[in-house]
Amino acid sequence: MKRTHHCNELRPAHAGQTVTLAGWVHSRRDLGGVLYIDLRDREGRTQTVFDPADLSKEVFETATHLHAESVVEIVGKVRVRPDGTNNDKIPTGQIEVLVKELLVLNHAEPLPFQIDDPEAAAKVNEETRLHFRYLDLRRPEMTHNLRLRSKIAIATRSFMDEQGFLEVETPTLFKSTPEGAREFLVPNRREPGTFYALPQSPQQFKQILMVSGVERYFQLARCYRDEDLRADRLPEFTQVDIEMSFIDREDIYALIEGLLKKVWKTALNIDIPTPFKRISFEEALNRWGIDKPDTRFGMELVDFTEDFKASTFKVFSGAVANGGVVKAMNAKGMAGATQGQIETMTEYAKSFGAKGLAYIKVENGEWKSPIVKFFSEAEKAALKTRLAIEEGDLILFAADQWLNACEILGKIRLYCADVLKTQGKLTIDPKQFNFLWVIEFPLLGFDREQNRWYSSHHPFTAPVAEDIPLLKTDPKKVRGQHYDIVVNGVELGGGSIRIHQPDVQKTVFEDILQIPPDETKLRFGYMLEAFRYGAPPHGGIALGFDRLCAILCGTTSIRDVIAFPKTAKGVCLMTDSPSQVSARQLRDLYIDVKVAKKE
Ligand code: AMO
Ligand code: AMP
Repeated sequence: MKRTHHCNELRPAHAGQTVTLAGWVHSRRDLGGVLYIDLRDREGRTQTVFDPADLSKEVFETATHLHAESVVEIVGKVRVRPDGTNNDKIPTGQIEVLVKELLVLNHAEPLPFQIDDPEAAAKVNEETRLHFRYLDLRRPEMTHNLRLRSKIAIATRSFMDEQGFLEVETPTLFKSTPEGAREFLVPNRREPGTFYALPQSPQQFKQILMVSGVERYFQLARCYRDEDLRADRLPEFTQVDIEMSFIDREDIYALIEGLLKKVWKTALNIDIPTPFKRISFEEALNRWGIDKPDTRFGMELVDFTEDFKASTFKVFSGAVANGGVVKAMNAKGMAGATQGQIETMTEYAKSFGAKGLAYIKVENGEWKSPIVKFFSEAEKAALKTRLAIEEGDLILFAADQWLNACEILGKIRLYCADVLKTQGKLTIDPKQFNFLWVIEFPLLGFDREQNRWYSSHHPFTAPVAEDIPLLKTDPKKVRGQHYDIVVNGVELGGGSIRIHQPDVQKTVFEDILQIPPDETKLRFGYMLEAFRYGAPPHGGIALGFDRLCAILCGTTSIRDVIAFPKTAKGVCLMTDSPSQVSARQLRDLYIDVKVAKKE
């Protein structure tokens, strides 16, 4: 017996043929002594019929005792289903296979959760799904995700190949260069006390590859970051990592637009329009309060600093006097929010550092709010026109320093959108993809606690050429040649044109970031050295491959598109790692563990 067809293949045209199918017992029904088993393989499902009239008693008995998910092979004859028994939901729904022979390849024990019913499966908690990941992956939704991820990877590779890129693998046992996220360390037995680090990204190797003359590099690269995890962040993830020589920002935009066009066509058969919109960091913050705006819905932030700078409402005029701004947004249709809901929102805003969240509810033709009594007619008129205030609206305010005010309202905007979505007042077409480039990020941020500048992206990003003189005089104003690619509020990727002159790179490390020269040498010495031997101008980008797949699979959790993901706590529930190691292993590494052994 050898499989002749997959379980998605048979049609009425095959009627009369004897076929062999192999797969898993998906579901079974016993109808008037005749047994119907849906057989499932990777490709689909076929109904098989065990009729005692046609089978030996022994075979029929075996079939009646089969548990779901047992692995079997059957030989049988294809026939068209009797009238009225077609199943339109599956491609093989017009036929069934009348079984002649059955071979049980392996019995399955009773399952920890049901996998033939998507609704039941959706209710299983994620921990159980991850413990029995091999069962979870048999669910059609998960099989679909795995398959799509594979397609996306192949489309990416073929596109990059067509564009003249070389796929180069870079080491995953790397050097500790703490910058950005915390690293995972790997002890070195050969020289106790020394460690490798797992790379946070192939950033330095890809730049060195440009010095090597590779010109166009890409890799589907595994990266490791020991950071606080969320639905879109895991300790171990994959990037489509790219670097090119002799280019400027426009080349990267065009390349990525071409790549995403191909990927969207391959995965969803959707033609996405290019080029993508470009928005400066400042505009993104001003209008949406975030550097990765979801522009599929409105509720944009509006600036009222000028209007309220002399207001009798001291919360607003005081903020302006302090060099701050007054920003407002119109949460359309949310005037019905209860006092409790407004308090929840205020507490939420406060958790991001807001001092309060002033509001106006527009109900029954009235502006209901503890603060309108302070507003002049001119102030009210400005609000009414510029926020297009109508019955049923909820107006929310933040008065604070510019960045804080924008970010607070940006978070509240997303919160309101979620509320409106659950109330059915905001619907978003799942096939709508709003891509945009966010550009002109500040090169540096200032860390008040440590009293020093830090790189907003990473220390290899080149400043915008005309801003270089400001590096010494007004670092805050220096824009980086950095770009992020954003879709529907998700930061899909980011990159930059790099510094390729060793002296500029040294200035950034030592004068701007205040890394002492000996430490610069220890951590980045090999890069500065490489740059002295002919480094071409270069730049690149990395796309979060898991995020890309999640968007294309229509899920918000990147765990749904990774075969064996870690939990939010960084644990693999199937293999139960991380785990303790033997005393002997630790001895070999000269490692002394000071935490008590878990029982
Ligand atoms: P960056 O740190 O912005 O840039 O990362 C690029 C993209 O990788 C994805 N990503 C993650 N995905 C899942 N889990 C995580 N913990 C995680 N962290 C990041 C995001 C992000 O946009 N070397 C630079 C790129 C460059 O300059 O070329 C870098 O790594 O989608
Ligand atoms: P108060 O005068 O402190 O009672 O505040 C009056 C209203 O303004 C309350 O609804 C506060 O939540 C709100 N509020 C206070 N400070 C701010 C601020 N900085 N930005 C926006 N709203 C504020």
